[in-house]
Amino acid sequence: MSSAEKQIEAGLTDAEREEIDQWLGRFPDSPEGRRSAVIPALHVVQHNSGGWLPPARMDAVADYLGMPPARVYEVATFYGMFDVKPTGRHKVNICTNISCMLRGADEIVEHVEKKLGIGLGETTADGRITLKREEECLAACAGAPMMLVDEEYYTDLTPEKIDRILDELE
Ligand code: FES
Repeated sequence: MSSAEKQIEAGLTDAEREEIDQWLGRFPDSPEGRRSAVIPALHVVQHNSGGWLPPARMDAVADYLGMPPARVYEVATFYGMFDVKPTGRHKVNICTNISCMLRGADEIVEHVEKKLGIGLGETTADGRITLKREEECLAACAGAPMMLVDEEYYTDLTPEKIDRILDELE
């Protein structure tokens, strides 16, 4: 095991601390201010942990921000953008909130489930794609129906457009 891997297992890397510190600079310099950085801190750690949040890494965030681990777990399980279990290499979020629903999101979900052979909340057998559970509005209503693939937004979806996007994912 490399020393970098050991460091990841043990807690936060220096680079992660640095990135979290940049976020901390935007919040008040107080215990409450430190705790306010939990969402960006979890983003940093999830990005560097294969797209999900292993418990030891959440503990490391709790320790660094001076909060009880249970509070960090609550945040991580409350927001759909975080995963506390391993996921596929790509995460597909289809918005089914009101604007998207009115413009056919349910049919889009059905199409994707059929194409991938999995349901919401599941991962393809080859580990390529996780189809995330239904999301709250992803704030791109003008382009409904839409989906988020990893960190990229795709709008005005049609079955053909979706097929193209999903087929290109490695
Ligand atoms: S309802 Fe889908 S992006 Fe807002």
